[in-house]
Amino acid sequence: MTASATEIQARTLAGYAHASALRQVHDRDWVLDRVTGEPEVLLDLGSGIGQLLHEALGRYPSLRLAVGLERSEHRIAEAAERLRAHGDRVRLHQADLTDPPELPDRADVVTMTSVLHWLYPDEERTLDWISRRLTPDGVFLLTTYHPDRDAHGLGGEDDIVRDALVALGAERGAVPSLFSGGGVLPIATRTRTGADLGALLERFFHVDSYLERDAVVTVENESQYEHFHAATFGDYYARLVEPARRAAFFTAVGESAWRRQHERGRVSEMPVRLWRLAPRR
Ligand SMILES: C[S@@+](CC[C@H](N)C(=O)[O-])C[C@H]1O[C@@H](n2cnc3c(N)ncnc32)[C@H](O)[C@@H]1O
Repeated sequence: MTASATEIQARTLAGYAHASALRQVHDRDWVLDRVTGEPEVLLDLGSGIGQLLHEALGRYPSLRLAVGLERSEHRIAEAAERLRAHGDRVRLHQADLTDPPELPDRADVVTMTSVLHWLYPDEERTLDWISRRLTPDGVFLLTTYHPDRDAHGLGGEDDIVRDALVALGAERGAVPSLFSGGGVLPIATRTRTGADLGALLERFFHVDSYLERDAVVTVENESQYEHFHAATFGDYYARLVEPARRAAFFTAVGESAWRRQHERGRVSEMPVRLWRLAPRR
């Protein structure tokens, strides 16, 4: 059987430059606007296709090194292409943040946008590593998403996926056990609450301050959300359905989002925090 275009997109997480305009790209400027002084080394964790590094290199001539760590080989390749013109100022490493590599340089700015939930529940090792990578007056700028969750720990994207699974024939009440049976941890559980996360961060950093904004996602049609989901979540949820029904699953996700857009004037809305964290002295 031939895979649909969306299935292929999900396997390679392709189309993120376009898809991220709906939500994640807003974090980039929000974070970089909080960088002060003349940074020399910036480390972006879960650097994706290199958008934040690209913007930082343009904004800060003082940067002698911009380093990206990213797990996906497809994303590293896209970032390398985007950042090629910056030559030796850029280093990209394919790495798993739950087992981070030793790096020679300390950073005066570390950024991590829309990534931490993917490390749940093993964030400690990464946070400890970051705290040791920062210069004494360095700063760690972190964005985290906080969707509402139900009694089963589902919320945010899980709700859109739940509607899609129901449209494909699942019983609504059975969806939480479909998630656990399929090894899919709800994203609203992965994201932790603000209070829970604050307590965790305090163990490794001094929490200087945080800002909060609402991330509102709106779309113009079903297909726009179908592609946003594939580029952002890849096969994470799609593996809940057998391979022959995956194309139908992605279509149903797009339709579920589009229904929300009609009913509520938006697909989703959730608070995002930007944490400003300093090393403990
Ligand atoms: C939603 S994207 C965010 C990308 C970028 N930071 C941005 O704000 O647009 C999450 C990124 O984290 C990466 N990622 C997830 N888990 C990871 C891990 N354990 N180690 C390294 N990268 C990871 C994914 O491959 C993906 O590129």
